[in-house]
Amino acid sequence: MQAFEWIHKLMEEMNTEIACIRLGNVHVIPVTSPELACLFLKEHDSIFSSRPICMSASLVSNGYLASTFAPMGDQWMKMRRVLASHVLSQTSLQWLRPKRDEEADHILRFIYNQCINQSSTRIINMRKLTRYHCANVIKNMIFSKRLFVNEDEDEKQVNALFILFEYFHSFGISDYLPWLSAFDLDGHTAILKNAFATTSKYIDHEVDKRIQMWKDGNKFVEEDILDVFIMLKDTNGNPLLNVKEIKDQVLEMMLAAIDNPSNAVEWTMREMLNQPNIMQRAIEEFDTIVGSNRLVQETELPRLNYVKACIKESFRLHPVAAFNAPHVSTNDATVGKYFIPKGSLVLLSRLGLGRNPRVWEDPLKFKPERHLLGDGEVVLTDSELRMLSFSTGRRGCPAVKLGSTITTMLLARLLQGFAWSSPPKSPYSNDVFGCYSLCNKPLLAPAKPRLSKDMYP
Ligand code: HEM
Repeated sequence: MQAFEWIHKLMEEMNTEIACIRLGNVHVIPVTSPELACLFLKEHDSIFSSRPICMSASLVSNGYLASTFAPMGDQWMKMRRVLASHVLSQTSLQWLRPKRDEEADHILRFIYNQCINQSSTRIINMRKLTRYHCANVIKNMIFSKRLFVNEDEDEKQVNALFILFEYFHSFGISDYLPWLSAFDLDGHTAILKNAFATTSKYIDHEVDKRIQMWKDGNKFVEEDILDVFIMLKDTNGNPLLNVKEIKDQVLEMMLAAIDNPSNAVEWTMREMLNQPNIMQRAIEEFDTIVGSNRLVQETELPRLNYVKACIKESFRLHPVAAFNAPHVSTNDATVGKYFIPKGSLVLLSRLGLGRNPRVWEDPLKFKPERHLLGDGEVVLTDSELRMLSFSTGRRGCPAVKLGSTITTMLLARLLQGFAWSSPPKSPYSNDVFGCYSLCNKPLLAPAKPRLSKDMYP
């Protein structure tokens, strides 16, 4: 049984929505109550906004250089400001839109070509497709490049990113008992080092090459995020970011942009195939709002409320990770009626919040309608933390707009472009939809073009 499972089982047995578990020297505080989650991330946010100093985070972040893993302090503030002001602002997102458009067209073309070569219907590995697409989107925005150099290399790179994702902050022994880290008893250190080396090889090469181009005078115009990072200046006119910071921030953005959107779209497709009436309703929404004579564009996504409700339901029921990124307290605090000592590691449970039976009716049922609010626009966030998609507060995701756009656009293009049918051998079983399990089997789904031939870019 994995650590996240026994923590949730323990809390269920104790009938509690907050617990304190001692791991090594650390008080670990898992939380499944939205009210308490709001107290941690809103009322007491200033105390609970740091991150743990631990082996896995230090390895992945090259010593806490970029924003996600950095403990509270000047480095975090600097990198967060860079992201918010220069990369994820509305203006930057608009500037980078053609790159996302290119990828939205590319995915249609990619699946269409496969279908044509395989007599109209083709089984698509949805996990691979969604992961590669998200990797392409963020790579295009950062490097102006699509995936990588050859298929083997591509697979290695994407797999390495997911290994990093799986192993950082993952209850590794060295994270809680640092004096044992030299022995690497559970093998996590070696796995992380390997995956980090694989991703760094590519990133280092691209970043070094681009810096050289600017130095040699072979580049004059900023064309993507990497150029922005390289050209940012401090108040004295010196580079704001050093080379290590740039490389680490690039890696972090790639990690952040691939896992959540690809997981949400794969799950939404899985659920839609399991309940075809849901897919039908989503397609009807398309046909009404966009029609079949043109391809859906980013500007239209806000109007696709049912499609967004489906994605939101996947974030609620099938989060990519059991827990939110850990928050560490920088002082003693009393939260509700609980005393939380300084240095505690608060783990808001994405699974436990989204499936809390006190909060959600039929919590294990995939019911997108629960997110529809009359005529109001559906957003993928939940400000009351009844589910945790983008989180909130100082450490909340700075990329709500970009993350929502990548996810919704991907699902929208898949639904608009193709008719999907159930996989030949249905993978639905209790272990997939069971209470605290995450799915390990990729969804394989047959696709058939649904639009006229000239619509495919
Ligand atoms: C559907 C897409 C996404 C979801 C659901 C999501 C969700 C999250 C969550 C839950 C956190 C942790 C918040 C906390 O600690 O309380 C986070 C942090 C973060 N996300 Fe996202 N994210 C998404 C996409 C992205 C993208 C596309 C980027 C950038 C390219 C990004 C950049 C970050 C960064 C930098 C942090 C760390 C913030 C900090 O510690 O100050 N995310 N995200």
